[in-house]
Amino acid sequence: MTWMSWASYSTAACSEIGRIISERDYSVMHDNTRIDEIATGIYRISTPVPPPVIPGGFTFNQYLIKDDDPLLYHTGPRKMFSLIRTAIESVLPVQSLRYIGFSHFEADECGSLNDFLEVAPGAEPLCSQIAKMVSVDDIALRPAHALGDGENLVLGSHTVRWIDTPHLPHAWECGHLFDTTTSTLFCGDLFTQGGHQHEPLTRDDILDSSEDMRAQLDYFSQTRNVRSLMEKLASTSPSTLACMHGAAWQGDGAKLLRQLAERLAG
Ligand SMILES: [Fe+2]
Ligand SMILES: [Fe+2]
Repeated sequence: MTWMSWASYSTAACSEIGRIISERDYSVMHDNTRIDEIATGIYRISTPVPPPVIPGGFTFNQYLIKDDDPLLYHTGPRKMFSLIRTAIESVLPVQSLRYIGFSHFEADECGSLNDFLEVAPGAEPLCSQIAKMVSVDDIALRPAHALGDGENLVLGSHTVRWIDTPHLPHAWECGHLFDTTTSTLFCGDLFTQGGHQHEPLTRDDILDSSEDMRAQLDYFSQTRNVRSLMEKLASTSPSTLACMHGAAWQGDGAKLLRQLAERLAG
């Protein structure tokens, strides 16, 4: 895999990926979306985008928590709505979704937010307080349910916790969700791996592969608070990292997050 082709995109940034894909014909992706349970009651939905569409290939992942109050974390780009809706329906009725959560306000995180709010009449956007104030309550069909830093939300058998991480990896409103029940950290754009062929869940290296990508496409904000913010995430001691791009990962998440912090701060 080479990432040299990424360099041709002078506007290189994660937020641009949604724009790139929205301008391209992704009919090649039909029927390739898969859904796999990666932790108890947590499903990874993944759509591979092959090299003809995005240089080097890429994946867009969403996560579905099946519970009394089902939660979809990230919607995918708007033009993938039907693919992701179909995947969800293989596990639960889409209209039963209660929360549509996302790390920060970008197309691949929440491009289909209103589409899901339309088909799931009981659903609310779930995001940070800053996201609600700055973007979501203006854009979304219904007001957001905002979570403060460290605030828990009970879904049924799962309890999730919001962790504010402004500008990590990017966006003022950025944060990450942690499932306290399965010790799964929905780590969004952290550990973004290129390529379009990944196992749903791996124990293999994702640090070096994501760092290879960052070397070509630095999507981090360079926040001076990187060490303290990464330590907030590491202190949850996750056993599963639910990555938004690439494979989900299983292992000593605190150790891996601290290793990434060293790379970022170094
Ligand atoms: Fe992003
Ligand atoms: Fe993303």
